[in-house]
Amino acid sequence: MNIRTSQGSYDITFVDSINALNQAAENAIWITDDNLMAHYPWLVDRHAIAVEPGEGSKDLRTFGELLEGLAMRGATRKTPIVAFGGGVVGDLAGFVAASYMRGVPFIQIPTSLLAMVDSSVGGKVGIDLKAGKNLAGAFKAPQEVLICPDLLKTLPEREFWNGMAEVLKYALIMDADLFENLTNHPIQIGDKRVPDVIQTCIAHKAKVVQQDEFETTGLRAILNFGHTVGHAIEAEMGYQEWLHGEAIAVGMVAEASIGETLGFTKAGTTIQVQNLMASHNLPTQLPKNIDIEALMHRMSRDKKRTESGLALSLLTDIGTCKLQSSVDPERVQQAMYEWVEASRVDERPRD
Ligand SMILES: NC(=O)c1ccc[n+]([C@@H]2O[C@H](COP(=O)([O-])OP(=O)(O)OC[C@H]3O[C@@H](n4cnc5c(N)ncnc54)[C@H](O)[C@@H]3O)[C@@H](O)[C@H]2O)c1
Ligand SMILES: [Zn+2]
Repeated sequence: MNIRTSQGSYDITFVDSINALNQAAENAIWITDDNLMAHYPWLVDRHAIAVEPGEGSKDLRTFGELLEGLAMRGATRKTPIVAFGGGVVGDLAGFVAASYMRGVPFIQIPTSLLAMVDSSVGGKVGIDLKAGKNLAGAFKAPQEVLICPDLLKTLPEREFWNGMAEVLKYALIMDADLFENLTNHPIQIGDKRVPDVIQTCIAHKAKVVQQDEFETTGLRAILNFGHTVGHAIEAEMGYQEWLHGEAIAVGMVAEASIGETLGFTKAGTTIQVQNLMASHNLPTQLPKNIDIEALMHRMSRDKKRTESGLALSLLTDIGTCKLQSSVDPERVQQAMYEWVEASRVDERPRD
């Protein structure tokens, strides 16, 4: 698959065997994390630089250390950087590649499902600041992206379902056939359909980002379905306990329900979204003790807010969605309360 960007075009190539990856990019400097280093010992032979696993490594300190490390190794403007890891390594190594000597070639080898279907496509790279996530970054098109679904064999199961949440998002916002397929036959661990599903999702994301590379036309914002509520949940929980995919799974159910209450989304959609999440081991209700007003406060401060109200990517029906740019926050809050109330009723034991 070929992706066009303003920095040139690049290929996303599917690779059957991990051995073939090992041969890739001979003269490159590889960046990975300690978990992957433990699973793939050949990374030692590639003199890979490993950062600590987890979001904490997407910080200025690690970014600085990597830049200094490249200089110490004598990297030149032509030395490619390979990001071998999940979204954390991809975002971090990509920002390093965008910054070192004002930009060196960058190759992505995403190893988590989330990185394969989402973070490795679209050119956004960056790190977190104390003030918030992804606040420093760049658009850096890779030279190529290599996708090897075999790498998922070592991915922890919870991380697999985390990535599936983004897959389900593509089905809901733009692919009714995929929705049908996954509703009738939910994906299992080791499912033979996974490589095809990854390819389909990459094609969807590529289609959107090619039409709105720098997030200026609003089209790319449709990918935020489930993320306005989801980000508020993550922030409210201090980015602890729940993974991103888990928060957006609940966010998708909540936003389907908000859409239904406000009359944007076809009646009966929420229950379909909820069943799809549940059949892929994802949560469908807010964490206990979470305060809706606090969530609303976070949503209003979110960068997705416009002068005239909240900007929400809402489903119109299964497989289609539309960016609604000025939704009244009071009506959203009311809809959230109604949804929570209704889901509590669902939870009560039946007589
Ligand atoms: N740039 C973008 O457009 C974009 C889009 C979405 C998310 N992101 C970013 O991506 C990050 C999340 O990515 P993630 O979910 O991949 O998290 P991650 O990179 O932290 O990986 C999750 C965990 O799985 C482990 N892991 C990854 N692949 C493995 C494998 N094959 N075998 C064994 N263990 C493996 C990692 O070591 C880590 O512990 C966040 O920082 C988020 O901001 C960026
Ligand atoms: Zn996401």
